[in-house]
Amino acid sequence: MTTASPTTGSRRRWTLWGLMAVSAIAVAAFAVPPYLSGDPANSNLPINPDAAQHFLSLVAHAVPSGLALVIGPLQFLTPLRNRNLKVHRVAGRVYLVSVVLASIAAFFAATFSVSGFPAQVAFYVLTAAWLYTLAQAYRCVRRGEVRLHRIWMIRNYALTFAAVTLRVYLVVGMVARKQFAWLTFEDIYTASVWASILINVVVAEYFIVHGILASSARRRRRRGSASSTSVATPGSGGQGG
Ligand code: HEM
Repeated sequence: MTTASPTTGSRRRWTLWGLMAVSAIAVAAFAVPPYLSGDPANSNLPINPDAAQHFLSLVAHAVPSGLALVIGPLQFLTPLRNRNLKVHRVAGRVYLVSVVLASIAAFFAATFSVSGFPAQVAFYVLTAAWLYTLAQAYRCVRRGEVRLHRIWMIRNYALTFAAVTLRVYLVVGMVARKQFAWLTFEDIYTASVWASILINVVVAEYFIVHGILASSARRRRRRGSASSTSVATPGSGGQGG
């Protein structure tokens, strides 16, 4: 099996990070502004005629959600974290408060939603998972368990990022609808909401496992090169890796 060189690995990481950051900014810039006007006529979603607070819940959800979506990628930048931990901490607190506010509003937005019961259930599941992973990440960092904090934040941001993948699947679904006319918008919307959650969870776990395996391989390599150095040292009697 061939392994990527450190340069190839880091180029790949930067490319993925760039794609994540650009798509997060694009979705925040495209999805949030209609809700800043305060006019329900600008909503991209149909407003529930029986719930006066529906539009308000969307505004209260969209604004902090957009902020969390944009801050997230910065938090994964190791050079920024290493150089300026204070910026990481302040941005982390803003992210945390944004997710809490956005989750509370999302609960109401899901309750008032006219998108159908299966989509509502998906949004409740997403809200609960969003808050749970955030609470775990916060608990770990307070205990000084930095590696576990990072793992829980990967899980948490994967859920935040469902806002991006949902919109990608919606576009794909609408294109597919031209071929499969029997698909309704509600079918496509429901499938996109569930797919955005489930696929993001699987991708996050892949990155977590991959990261753990890569760091233990690095440790093994370091141990190996240290012991092969000691083999070369006269009188050490080392066995090598
Ligand atoms: C990850 C947790 C999230 C949950 C549980 C959630 C929940 C919801 C719910 C329930 C709705 C109403 C949907 C409907 O009635 O069909 C909604 C709409 C919306 N959400 Fe989220 N959301 C999340 C993340 C985000 C993020 C990160 C953004 C950032 C841009 C965002 C932006 C919006 C916007 C702008 C709307 C209005 C619909 C639109 O114009 O596309 N949400 N969300």
